[in-house]
Amino acid sequence: MVVITGGAGYIGSYLTERLIKEKPLVVDNFSSGNFKVEGATYLVEDLRLTSDIKLEKGCTLYHLAANPDVRTSMESVGEHFDQDVRASLNVAEICRKSDCEEVIFTSSSTVYGETRVIPTPEESSTSPISYYGVYKLMAEEIFQFYSRVYGIRTVILRLANVVGGSRQTHGIVPDFIKKLMRDPTTLEILGNGEQRKSYIYISDVIDAMIHLAKVTGKCEVYNLGNSDWVTVKEIASIVEGEMGLNPQHKFRDAGEGRGWKGDVREMLLDIRKMLEAGVKVNYSSSEDITKATDDVLRNVKPY
Ligand SMILES: NC(=O)c1ccc[n+]([C@@H]2O[C@H](COP(=O)([O-])OP(=O)(O)OC[C@H]3O[C@@H](n4cnc5c(N)ncnc54)[C@H](O)[C@@H]3O)[C@@H](O)[C@H]2O)c1
Repeated sequence: MVVITGGAGYIGSYLTERLIKEKPLVVDNFSSGNFKVEGATYLVEDLRLTSDIKLEKGCTLYHLAANPDVRTSMESVGEHFDQDVRASLNVAEICRKSDCEEVIFTSSSTVYGETRVIPTPEESSTSPISYYGVYKLMAEEIFQFYSRVYGIRTVILRLANVVGGSRQTHGIVPDFIKKLMRDPTTLEILGNGEQRKSYIYISDVIDAMIHLAKVTGKCEVYNLGNSDWVTVKEIASIVEGEMGLNPQHKFRDAGEGRGWKGDVREMLLDIRKMLEAGVKVNYSSSEDITKATDDVLRNVKPY
């Protein structure tokens, strides 16, 4: 049996679609996601509040339910703790009580913070600069503990920025498109536009998650990203090009060139471990942005 928490959200709904032959059970409170896939079963539960969900023995559980917004984590500190840590502890307890075989947890590149080691390998030190990053790290520790003590096989995936598909509800691409649709003459850019980050296309992420779930040993951490990166200004130029616009840029700097408090300005993951495990990346970061822009504009499915 396959269980997907957060399966009504952006990444989770594409994962649900890809695993549909296994008739997955989705656990989601529909707080931010609302994508339902035919053939899946939906259990509406708030994972902050319960660890009393009985699953079939020996299941594989993908844990995606969280609040992925770095910016709001800097303001709603307690709320994010509940969504990202308490919910993860409850999920770990559900797995223990149900004798789950394996957990795949979507962590984040933000756990590294502003490291000097770029590209950043998995064994680098972690020093997050946002509550979101801290909470992801705490959730990683929880799942590693459950693996060590209760023997639940665990795969921790530290994701770069995910883009693509018509269901992108958050992130830089839909943000720029929405702003340019409202006002095609001016684009507000958060930060100084020099921030440089790595992107990965949604279908590459889903394929990687399913592949790594099968090949991984007792407890492994993988970076999941791309081998290159793009600046925010380059992203603006790609999106504008795809929309046939040439707007003026208005920069809103949250300090030191950041787009918001907690914004990591440079992120490029070392992805050798995932490549060695057989994961393939089909598109570069700039191709990802081009495809993601087209997906939103043309309402295209990534598969
Ligand atoms: N999108 C990215 O670029 C990115 C990058 C790194 C890591 N991640 C991680 O990947 C996962 C999925 O991200 P996403 O972009 O699809 O986010 P999303 O907000 O689209 O999906 C999250 C889902 O979790 C559900 N949810 C939230 N709190 C819940 C709760 N207490 N109980 C039950 N359901 C709850 C929401 O309703 C939603 O359907 C998250 O863990 C996120 O932190 C995402």
